[in-house]
Amino acid sequence: MRARTTSDVLEAAAVLRTGGLVAFATETVYGLGANAFDARAVAGIFAAKDRPFFDPLIVHVAGRDQASELAATALETATALMDRFWPGPLTLVLPKREVVPDLVTAGLGTVGIRLPDHEQARELIARAGCPVAAPSANLFGHVSPTTAEHVAEQLGERIDVILDGGPCRVGLESTVLDLSEDRPVLLRPGGTTQEAIEAVIGPIVVRTAAVPGKAAPAPGMLDRHYSPRTKLRFWDPETEVVPRGRVGVLSLREITCDARLQTTIALSPSGDLAEAAAGLFAALRRLDAAGLDVILAERFPDEGLGRAMNDRLRRAAAE
Ligand code: TXA
Ligand code: MG
Repeated sequence: MRARTTSDVLEAAAVLRTGGLVAFATETVYGLGANAFDARAVAGIFAAKDRPFFDPLIVHVAGRDQASELAATALETATALMDRFWPGPLTLVLPKREVVPDLVTAGLGTVGIRLPDHEQARELIARAGCPVAAPSANLFGHVSPTTAEHVAEQLGERIDVILDGGPCRVGLESTVLDLSEDRPVLLRPGGTTQEAIEAVIGPIVVRTAAVPGKAAPAPGMLDRHYSPRTKLRFWDPETEVVPRGRVGVLSLREITCDARLQTTIALSPSGDLAEAAAGLFAALRRLDAAGLDVILAERFPDEGLGRAMNDRLRRAAAE
């Protein structure tokens, strides 16, 4: 069976209501959604993605009231962050309520919740009449999709409907912030910068790698993740020579290139990190399809969205 691609929100909402799987656009990346209260439908997400069950899903809501039905949202920090960043690319991990199935949270006592800054996504959730559990709509470990075509390539044979909402504006996944401990912990850098969060709630703890002796890390924290098939490594154009073979280069601005380079992609000629982030995953897909021996990636400035992009490249580069 091949997924239908549609731009009809009502049709997609009806599929969610009857236990089907719907890929949909958000401002960050495309998600693969199911009714969060329907454990059987949620199990279908894991099957379609080949995703291990220990990896909890983010639940998407259409408004703050719906978030309060799923988790304890009254915390002062949570309220301040929602006021400032919702709707938007910030997932808050909060103590969950009984109604949330264990499958959604991988048995954890917390649930990650997000209100997407995408009109069509919110309408889909509202029309479905239920919160929507959704990981990124790619096979586990691969690059997240930022267009409906990307979803069709990887999951077209495995899901019911792709709701086409155009290319994703942000292009990087949401920032995941855990508010269930004594101090806020950043689990995944993403579309909302650490600097912006700290401007609202003060210093936060950053824990984006596994802590030895602690429970399984959040899978966005797996060392190898967000990966193209082609080998990728960081490369400094100032100091390193270009290796032999078929080489692709990913950079922020245009760089003067060696004639042997096969494919070069500059993500933002003006050096704008938001523009670069929006094109990052599509660029990785293009380079991956170019039949290269290696992808060389320039490191982004270690600030703002640059941190999230470096995080994805580091995981893509991991053996
Ligand atoms: O932008 C996004 O966040 C996209 C769109 C579709 O919303 N979704 C996304 O989902 O990237 P996914 O499943 O690919 O990544 C979710 C991350 C994972 O690293 C997961 O471990 C973490 O969020 N996460 C979810 N619930 C959690 C929880 N209760 N505790 C800790 N980490 C959690
Ligand atoms: Mg993902």
